Amino acid sequence: MAATVGRICGARLLKNYGLVGPQVCQLSTNAQGWTKSRKLLLSTLGVIGGGAGALLFALEQSVDASGTEAHPYHQPWSHNGWFQSLDHASVRRGYEVYKQVCKACHSLQYVAFRNLVNVTHTEAEAKAEAAEVMIKDGPDEEGNYFERPGKLSDYFPSPYPNENAARAANNGAYPPDLSLIVLGRKGGEDYIFSLLTGYTDPPAGVALREGQNYNPYFPGGAIAMAQVLFDEAAEYSDGTPATASQLAKDVSTFLRWCSEPELDDRRLMTIKAIGIFSTLAAIVYYYKRHKWSSLKSRKLAYKPVSKK
Ligand code: HEC
Repeated sequence: MAATVGRICGARLLKNYGLVGPQVCQLSTNAQGWTKSRKLLLSTLGVIGGGAGALLFALEQSVDASGTEAHPYHQPWSHNGWFQSLDHASVRRGYEVYKQVCKACHSLQYVAFRNLVNVTHTEAEAKAEAAEVMIKDGPDEEGNYFERPGKLSDYFPSPYPNENAARAANNGAYPPDLSLIVLGRKGGEDYIFSLLTGYTDPPAGVALREGQNYNPYFPGGAIAMAQVLFDEAAEYSDGTPATASQLAKDVSTFLRWCSEPELDDRRLMTIKAIGIFSTLAAIVYYYKRHKWSSLKSRKLAYKPVSKK
């Protein structure tokens, strides 16, 4: 590339010895005076670039439009926006929904009980939550595996011992782990909310197999998970009315926290970084003006040497 550009511009650079001052190679759009090879090169680049852009656009559009699934509505989450933190009361309620409903089928294998401390629960509460579940541990001194009450350092136990057992219990479908589901699905928490609240009867002409349910937000429409959230499907400890949409909203917020537990810290860093960098920018700007003021305001005069 450099050699080609050099060849195209270099020839003319060399011709300029007779002129006053150096001539810089100009990549202007004025086609006059372009060599044939330069015209050819630039038009080929233009055609290839334009073609690749059009192809990418067409592929993206066709993928968007190829499915029959409904696109989730973009909800006004309280944590939308650069400076918003998660609603921790909602995350706590979402944990209660997970514990009372989703935990029966879905694992949450990358979240540990200690992660709840100072996020949704106090340390004592999180210890009590952990102690409620039995964790498989071992081997002990005699080489046996045993079960013991959970500790803060334990991860959430999975409802099934392995994937095959999970499939066998769910008509062959595998309930995915929910730890990273918000990042793992297009639409994030909007998708989760729409999926949980979007169950309807199948439209005319759509036949579902045994154990399938119709959900327009799920790709293909036929999902093995039945509707699980109804009004009063779970109980909140803070007395919030447990409507189906409230449960869906809270569990979506909770899953957002599971996928991105560092969200609040990152937003705090953004605020700090903006504060620090804007102060620095102001100082640098002032310093630059200060240093350049004498250079910019000076006047240079050239006196022609008089011929005597
Ligand atoms: C009775 C078991 C069961 C319960 C309870 C349950 N699910 Fe599911 N879930 C499934 C199964 C099975 C699938 C796999 C569906 C498929 O692939 O067709 C699934 C899939 C999902 C998916 C993935 C959808 C996708 O795009 O692939 C999400 C998200 C989900 N469930 C969220 C939840 C949440 C949140 C709860 C609790 C409110 C919950 N589920 C409760 C069985 C369950």
